[in-house]
Amino acid sequence: MESVKEYYDKIGWKKHEGKYNDTLSFSSNVGTEYKRICNDRLKDMIGSPELLLDVACGASPFDSRAKKQLCIDFSITALKEAKRNRHDGFFVLGDITSLPLKDNSVSDTVSMHTIYHVQKDHQETAIKEIKRVTKNKCFIVYNAGKHAKLVNLLTLPLQLWNWSEKRINPNSKRKLYFYAHNYKWLEKFGEVRTYRFFNENGIKLYSRLLWLVSKYETHLPKHSYHPLLIIDKTK
Ligand SMILES: C[S@@+](CC[C@H](N)C(=O)[O-])C[C@H]1O[C@@H](n2cnc3c(N)ncnc32)[C@H](O)[C@@H]1O
Repeated sequence: MESVKEYYDKIGWKKHEGKYNDTLSFSSNVGTEYKRICNDRLKDMIGSPELLLDVACGASPFDSRAKKQLCIDFSITALKEAKRNRHDGFFVLGDITSLPLKDNSVSDTVSMHTIYHVQKDHQETAIKEIKRVTKNKCFIVYNAGKHAKLVNLLTLPLQLWNWSEKRINPNSKRKLYFYAHNYKWLEKFGEVRTYRFFNENGIKLYSRLLWLVSKYETHLPKHSYHPLLIIDKTK
């Protein structure tokens, strides 16, 4: 398994036929409307802060309504692409476990799809760093992995299919460091809500029901495949 930084520098944020390799490996074109609804829900929660930090922004920074957006990532390739995709942002190379910022220096922070790629024992440090530099609210999109038992049960047929495909073609999916703590662990830091109930398998299998899922999924925060951790420092 290559290091996460090496993967994003050399492979993940390089393009193949116009699409990032990371996007090709980990997501699909199915359920774009559902994904948009989930994103817009988060966008509304964040509102329009003075200065939003998007930490581990990747190639496509969060499309916020913030007055200013500071984008940090430890991959130089991510930052170069991010600059191309969001002209009005500020871009800084940095590690989520040791942010190059003063305490309470940004209004709010968003961090999507990253903490679970940080080494298991350093994930708490990353969350504490995000909290330290933020004045108001932190929004962290996590991945519950094996702890999202309902989603895993509902998507079992596709999981078995993927597993058999992997046996036939071991290179079909990239292996990237991943560790998911449980919902209880997340709750130590703040409130757990729903970013998105389904993972890519669920989106593919239940594509016709996504309109219904998007209506009710916020009632199932601790069953969501992608829970949203909110740390509110104003309370
Ligand atoms: C799965 S991508 C998510 C990108 C973006 N947030 C999104 O949702 O599309 C993970 C990103 O986190 C970055 N990353 C991983 N570990 C990091 C760390 N310790 N410090 C800073 N960035 C990190 C990677 O370089 C990559 O760009």
